[in-house]
Amino acid sequence: MSARQPWATAETGLCVRRAISADRAALADFLAAMDKDGLYERHFAHGDAPNAALLGRLANAEGRNRVVLLGVGADATVIGHAEYVAEAGAAEFALMVAPAWRDCGLGKALLAALLAAATAAGQREMHGLIQSTNTRALMVARKHGFGIRSGEDRRTVIVSRPLAPWLAAGSSESEPGTTSDMLDPVHHDPDRTALHPCPVP
Ligand SMILES: CC(C)(COP(=O)(O)OP(=O)(O)OC[C@H]1O[C@@H](n2cnc3c(N)ncnc32)[C@H](O)[C@@H]1OP(=O)(O)O)[C@@H](O)C(=O)NCCC(=O)NCCS
Repeated sequence: MSARQPWATAETGLCVRRAISADRAALADFLAAMDKDGLYERHFAHGDAPNAALLGRLANAEGRNRVVLLGVGADATVIGHAEYVAEAGAAEFALMVAPAWRDCGLGKALLAALLAAATAAGQREMHGLIQSTNTRALMVARKHGFGIRSGEDRRTVIVSRPLAPWLAAGSSESEPGTTSDMLDPVHHDPDRTALHPCPVP
């Protein structure tokens, strides 16, 4: 598929859906086909361990605090991955799209589905750790109303937004992403979840 083509149409048969344990082999193939830079942008670390940890989380991706979504091609190939891990109503997210499928809208579709899943699960806030130079990921977050603030050093930023108050019909809350709407700083402890066990080398 060429760049800029809407990623999902009735004709292409692509979908975003919840992952199941049986997806493990297809997810491993997806990770094996990811580019090194993309994996580093996702994991904040090099090597095989983060991919192994990600595959391991698949078996526990049930319930309201751990959700894994996949973008799946018509041939059942995994072309995108998104997950959140939550604690006390705060959900940390992460996304990955296969290099050949970037800039087709899949990242935005995955994040939209993750936001919907987190909201339905009663989470109150979603946040993510993104490298400051990762303009594509920052664009995706901005498009979904995330506000951006500095991370623990110049190399990272934290994106965050509230969930239910904004999505509730008739809410008088201001739009997410505005300064006044930013939650009090989430004390981002990268070791709090399994998403960024080794954030900055
Ligand atoms: C971040 C990532 C998930 C985005 O997925 P994607 O499918 O390419 O995202 P989308 O196509 O939905 O949106 C990309 C947006 O970034 C824009 N973009 C792309 N390159 C850009 C650049 N250099 N500067 C600014 N914007 C850029 C695109 O135009 C698009 O915006 P638009 O909707 O206004 O057209 C994907 O690039 C990826 O897997 N990266 C490696 C892993 C990663 O960085 N994960 C995020 C940290 S957890």
